[in-house]
Amino acid sequence: MGLPTTNPTTTKSWTELQRHFEIIQAEEMKVWFRENPKRAKELSIEIEDVYLDYSKNRITKETMSILYSLAEEVGLKTAIEAQFKGVQINKTEERSVLHTALRGGEELEVNGIPIHKEITDSLSKIKAFSSKIHSGKWKGYTGKPIDTVVNIGIGGSDLGPKMVVDALLYYKSSIKSHFISNVDGDHVHHILQQLDPETTLFIVVSKSFTTQETLANAETARAWFLEGAAEKDIAKHFVAVSTNMKAIKTFGIATENTFPLWDWVGGRFSLWSSVGLSIACVLGYDHFEQLLEGAFSMDEHFRKASFEDNIPVTLALISVWYNNFFNSETEAIIPYNQALNSLVPYLQQAIMESNGKHIDREGNSVAYQTGTIVWGSTGTNAQHAFFQLLHQGTKFIPADFIGFKQSFYNDKSHDFKLMSNFFAQTEALLVGKTKEEVRESLLQQNIPTTKLESLVAYKSFEGNRPTNTLLFSKLTPKVLGKLIAMYEHKLFVQGVIWNIFSYDQMGVELGKELSSSVLQEIQSSSVNSEHDASTKTLLDTYLQAQ
Ligand code: F6P
Repeated sequence: MGLPTTNPTTTKSWTELQRHFEIIQAEEMKVWFRENPKRAKELSIEIEDVYLDYSKNRITKETMSILYSLAEEVGLKTAIEAQFKGVQINKTEERSVLHTALRGGEELEVNGIPIHKEITDSLSKIKAFSSKIHSGKWKGYTGKPIDTVVNIGIGGSDLGPKMVVDALLYYKSSIKSHFISNVDGDHVHHILQQLDPETTLFIVVSKSFTTQETLANAETARAWFLEGAAEKDIAKHFVAVSTNMKAIKTFGIATENTFPLWDWVGGRFSLWSSVGLSIACVLGYDHFEQLLEGAFSMDEHFRKASFEDNIPVTLALISVWYNNFFNSETEAIIPYNQALNSLVPYLQQAIMESNGKHIDREGNSVAYQTGTIVWGSTGTNAQHAFFQLLHQGTKFIPADFIGFKQSFYNDKSHDFKLMSNFFAQTEALLVGKTKEEVRESLLQQNIPTTKLESLVAYKSFEGNRPTNTLLFSKLTPKVLGKLIAMYEHKLFVQGVIWNIFSYDQMGVELGKELSSSVLQEIQSSSVNSEHDASTKTLLDTYLQAQ
């Protein structure tokens, strides 16, 4: 048993949505707000410290009701339980998908092995290790305590821990952190030159321990370390997180300095596992634990709430509505919190590596759109960068606005300015500014009538541009756990509806394969004549400069 395999376009609800779309596509949200004073209340969900207002969307209650029926028709309830119970829903890789089990829940077995004890053992190991780093009990090869942790990994072995550490730096200990991911040598050398080998700990994170970038960076870091230290000192300065024990040993990292990972945790969902070791080392184990608790409470909500009261389900369905009926290509994510600067790159991997697929769960090419492109950056910076296009461009771009009721430092002067922008932007996108309103304000500025008319069209705003507002209490570890889990569940729901496999990533393989043969050509200075003319010329040009 795996996931249901319904082609969404064959459902009754899909036909209903098409009919419904024809009727409401040109309607204006601001009119709906005028007609129904209860709209904001009716189209919002509040759970503990999360408030989702989805009323500024091109939806009515009828839209939502058909979307919820679509979720029923494609078997979403069964799919959710299948995931949480450890059914092998990652069918192409024959794996369960159990990052949720890392955060709590019932005892489960994978391939006949109970996993609860393995999880708690690994958490205990993370706790013990990170505590030794904090207390200074873990000493470097010259007897000095560790003051800097460097995470070497890429993709899911970098983006998650980096995003969490960036987001929660306010709660950090005295341990400094760096993240090395890109195989770009300039990056690793730039960081190494800032480090003291006597007080630096490298955490090499790679689920497979075969990833070119990570191995190259780890080798470079080891060579740099050995400039002053001996082989035997490596054990005090290098630890690893992986499923591939053999490769770790070959690299020279001691088995006792290895943190486990399992194939039922996908790379882009792995920050909850030992991959989060750098989080525990930099922020403290308690904060890591609170992050897990927050995610678990979102899991419980996702699993137990009715679809109508379910935040991830509702967000996913609205996104499907835009993607498949309004033909929107992208979604923007705008957190009004500078600490969430790394959230979008993290979500790009989670969402786009998961749902960027065109073969359905029965092996057929899909005849409808799947994975959305997500992009964005923090407000208010984003306002001064790309908001022009959101407000007046030709593209239809739904956006999630993420804000917090309390800041870290509680400087009300800044907080009020930040949040007034947060609220004003979604209102502006909703209501726009009519030509009459523009004319009126230009008249008040005493602009001459001849000039005035030529400006009216440029200064008016259509509005009717959709947004979700997510208002959280405060960016605590627990709240961040909820926020991340919310998006994880959202993307899962979308994958279920689109009838694709969200948990493999075969699309990253071809580029990797080609790059390894190109690397051999570059190393041997002999370019294969079978390349296309463009690639061959580029390679020749590059080689001439070496
Ligand atoms: O880019 C593909 C990918 O496999 C990601 O899914 C993964 O997060 C990343 O590479 C790193 O993989 P690993 O942890 O095995 O080094």
